[in-house]
Amino acid sequence: MNPQKKLREWYLLNKRELPFRNKKQAYPIWISEVMLQQTRVAAMLPLFENFLKRFPNPETLAKSSEEEVLSYWKGLGYYSRARNIRKAAIQLVDQYNGSFPKNLELVLKLPGIGNYTARAVLSIAYDLPLAVLDGNVKRVLSRYFGYTVNILGPKADLDLQKMADDFLNREYPGDHNQAVMELGAMLCLPESPKCLLCPLTEGCFSRIHGKTKEIPVREKNQKQIRLTGEIWVIQKEDLYLLIKEPKTRFLKGMFHLPYGFLGDLPNEEYEPSELFLFLRKHWKLTPSIGTVKHTITHHKLEYSVPHLKLSHIQELETQLRSLTIEFKWVELEQLETEFPSSLARKVKKILLY
Ligand code: ADE
Repeated sequence: MNPQKKLREWYLLNKRELPFRNKKQAYPIWISEVMLQQTRVAAMLPLFENFLKRFPNPETLAKSSEEEVLSYWKGLGYYSRARNIRKAAIQLVDQYNGSFPKNLELVLKLPGIGNYTARAVLSIAYDLPLAVLDGNVKRVLSRYFGYTVNILGPKADLDLQKMADDFLNREYPGDHNQAVMELGAMLCLPESPKCLLCPLTEGCFSRIHGKTKEIPVREKNQKQIRLTGEIWVIQKEDLYLLIKEPKTRFLKGMFHLPYGFLGDLPNEEYEPSELFLFLRKHWKLTPSIGTVKHTITHHKLEYSVPHLKLSHIQELETQLRSLTIEFKWVELEQLETEFPSSLARKVKKILLY
């Protein structure tokens, strides 16, 4: 029996029963795949069920407000994904009668849909012969074929996509893709893989050569950058200031609490904004209410949190307008949906402490 066939038989016998596996329907498969990019199956299931109850098809999603969609995304984080899902649903309804086009190029044009999601939906729902590549698939394939190039390096994705394409079971692309991912999630684990139970054990390079510890190769060559700074909570009665700056190193394109870095900076990219300097100069005696740590890729950030309570906001608003910074005042309850980063949650925790 060839490995693809063994893999599929293992999958059919051992797969988890999941609600989005009941029917080959593009819409629930799409939603589940986007949610699964953010969290594990057990954590996403209740959210998935709720989401599908309220938005059972692209039409209901397209007609809803962004705010409501975000409220159904609570807890998943990365809210731009939810915004994009709604935007893509609007396009599906407007351009394709509410169904996914059976074409990779067209699906890739939808907001927020990248290679992984497009390939997953089209293969699982329509059995188009498109192989997916996610973290689990990369691990399974690099172990099976003995791929020893750094999977975090620039070349690996191209190589591995080619391997995935060649390894695809063209008769059952949807089952096959899910089987590889399932294998990565259940048996071909990063630590202590369960090779004795694995349907691919016979031909697996890493198992045969005792190299499952070494493969996949993951070498982080990015040096960690440590930055310290401040993230300001500016309060007027029970409202909090969020800003959207035209140029900012982190948190691009979203409303956020004003922040900046201090001390030795690696280069000018990290220099504090004019607004940040204005805040520090004008309200230099503002007490800090704590510190938050936050990691963004290879940056380790540590912020102290000045808490400024204002009774008059005119001077500040004039400054914001003159710097052409968009701003809004939001309630504490809305902080995490309006400022969709885990930083918001960390700062809120300090505020409520
Ligand atoms: N991880 C993400 N999507 C998956 C799927 N459809 N099956 C198994 N694991 C997954």
